[in-house]
Amino acid sequence: MNIQGKTALVTGASRGIGRAIALELAQQGVKRLLLVARNRQRLAEVATEIKAFGVEAVTLAVDLTQPIEVNIAIARAWRAHGSIDLLVNCAGVAHQTSFLQSKMPNVEEELALNLMGMYTITRLVARRMANRGEGTIVNVSSLMGKVAAPTMATYSATKFAILGFTKALRTELAPHNIQVLALLPSLTDTDMVRELNLFRWVVPMTPDRVAKALVLGVRKQSPEILVGWQSHLAVWCDRILPWLLQKVLRMAAPKDNQALRLRRASPR
Ligand SMILES: NC(=O)c1ccc[n+]([C@@H]2O[C@H](COP(=O)([O-])OP(=O)(O)OC[C@H]3O[C@@H](n4cnc5c(N)ncnc54)[C@H](OP(=O)(O)O)[C@@H]3O)[C@@H](O)[C@H]2O)c1
Repeated sequence: MNIQGKTALVTGASRGIGRAIALELAQQGVKRLLLVARNRQRLAEVATEIKAFGVEAVTLAVDLTQPIEVNIAIARAWRAHGSIDLLVNCAGVAHQTSFLQSKMPNVEEELALNLMGMYTITRLVARRMANRGEGTIVNVSSLMGKVAAPTMATYSATKFAILGFTKALRTELAPHNIQVLALLPSLTDTDMVRELNLFRWVVPMTPDRVAKALVLGVRKQSPEILVGWQSHLAVWCDRILPWLLQKVLRMAAPKDNQALRLRRASPR
């Protein structure tokens, strides 16, 4: 896809990877950017940065877990600003915990945003793209959508699901001339990971690097955009030597003190 002169909508655009993607798309020549997230102030700041590149920026402050709110915002945006050529579903949330200590509200939040939020906006935009007979959709999964990681079971589950969703839509929407791709970043230095206990030996990459990979992947229409050699190695290892990867993951995973305490305290 040639992104020059196109209109793109990016969710999760107020910070982190989504913000970097919006800025990279602006630098690479899109005409208009629709920026989606909840925080109005942060969205306005990103819009100001984008306008400095001579690109039109529109902010849509919505909570993607609220389908009615999203429905109204997309209908209004389409009417006021015309069609969307590229949808980048980047908003997401992650909770890290030992599975044995996991809490239902955290799991519900991951499902509500990572899966249901993505479903809601994708359906609204894809229907309109299908009517026009063109469009590109990029769903942000994760390396954890290919390689399941201890302490991130429910987040991993949503990211695996996003890959399934993406593959199904790729086939189903192809007759409408809609391309559906997945972006799979590995550990990236954003607010999301500042709260996490990091895995050993994994060096975070910058959001800018992920954004550049996305733009290249969209140009080449790569079905799955992996970022960085560590991701390629991990996916290759999972395919060829899954037992080795399991061993490495066990060694690299953050030590789960609470679960260990629980195991020691439990009767034999
Ligand atoms: N960072 C990593 O290491 C990494 C690795 C692989 C994949 N990913 C994926 O990359 C994506 C972006 O992650 P990130 O690291 O950039 O995270 P981040 O810095 O925490 O940013 C999350 C973004 O999602 C938005 N958001 C959160 N809840 C929302 C809601 N209910 N409605 C609308 N927007 C919402 C946030 O904006 P507001 O708070 O303003 O709403 C923010 O813009 C996620 O899908 C994540 O799973 C991240």
